Amino acid sequence: MNLDKFERYPLTFGPTPIEHLPRMTEALGGKVQIYAKRDDCNSGLAMGGNKLRKLEYIVPDAIASNADTLVSIGGVQSNHTRMVAATAAKIGMRCVVVQEAWVPHQDAVYDRVGNIMLTRLMGADSRIVEDGFDIGIRQSWEDAIQSVKDAGGNPYGIPAGASVHKYGGLGYVGFAEEVRKQETDLGFAFDYIIVCVVTGSTQAGMIVGFAADDRADRVIGIDASGTPEQTRAQVREIVDNTAALVELGRAVREDEIVILPDYAYPAYGVPSEETNEAIRFAARTEAMITDPVYEGKSMQGMMDLVKKGFFPDGARVLYAHLGGAPALNGYSYIYRNG
Ligand SMILES: Cc1ncc(COP(=O)(O)O)c(C=O)c1O
Repeated sequence: MNLDKFERYPLTFGPTPIEHLPRMTEALGGKVQIYAKRDDCNSGLAMGGNKLRKLEYIVPDAIASNADTLVSIGGVQSNHTRMVAATAAKIGMRCVVVQEAWVPHQDAVYDRVGNIMLTRLMGADSRIVEDGFDIGIRQSWEDAIQSVKDAGGNPYGIPAGASVHKYGGLGYVGFAEEVRKQETDLGFAFDYIIVCVVTGSTQAGMIVGFAADDRADRVIGIDASGTPEQTRAQVREIVDNTAALVELGRAVREDEIVILPDYAYPAYGVPSEETNEAIRFAARTEAMITDPVYEGKSMQGMMDLVKKGFFPDGARVLYAHLGGAPALNGYSYIYRNG
């Protein structure tokens, strides 16, 4: 496997810490050791998160294309559009982001706080449209790219979640390589990795990265899209593309792609009561802040799997914390009493 041949533009601090979570481990019965890899603390750029690992491999291509404007898309409270806006500010480009109505929301300030506020603060042209949730290529994004051209600019398009970009999977191949190095220092290997999956390139990159030492099937994807078949198909496509790019040297089998659909209910961006309990649990045991759209759902999934005995006694489980806390501000009514 060869990741080093790809140019990387640093946007993160470097390797992210792995920390043991003793109070969470104990509260979940003490038989499975829980650790977190803190990609939520990976950068000084606008609170960081998983998208920066992906964007590190995309920025060199954007610069080489002579673009002057990054154009991307997400929901109103998208972490991804926040990270694209941050990247554009950092590299001195303009930024246009389309923010679709992916989530039915209750808070009156949903479109003014959290991610979208930070996005605007960093100077991005944030355009709200009414279209609903869909992880695929969107007309509104293509229209935004065209609008930059019409105004005489040179756009560089980054699809939702930076996922179906040709280099979208590379960043999380790097995550797997980083974990392997950290395991050498720790003196043990993790038995499972838990990761939230929606647009797919985070898990797809991990699958390719961990396929190199034959443990891709230990990457447990917790779907938060609510459209798991579409997410799975997108993960499959990104796995194949990324495996070819890094010369994995073999095909990834269907059974190496593990995505559990059981925790995304009632819908993308809408937390269930169980998700809210998981968010409170992580906050109260470890002061680890998760959000109602993504990480709260993967936290809920991990807790349920521990309780159900999915992991054998003594297993070490690594929860990949991908960021997303700014979205909590858009859900203040739910958490008004904690
Ligand atoms: C905080 C957070 N967690 C998880 C995900 C899911 O990652 P991906 O879209 O690569 O599947 C995202 C983005 O969609 C995210 O912002």
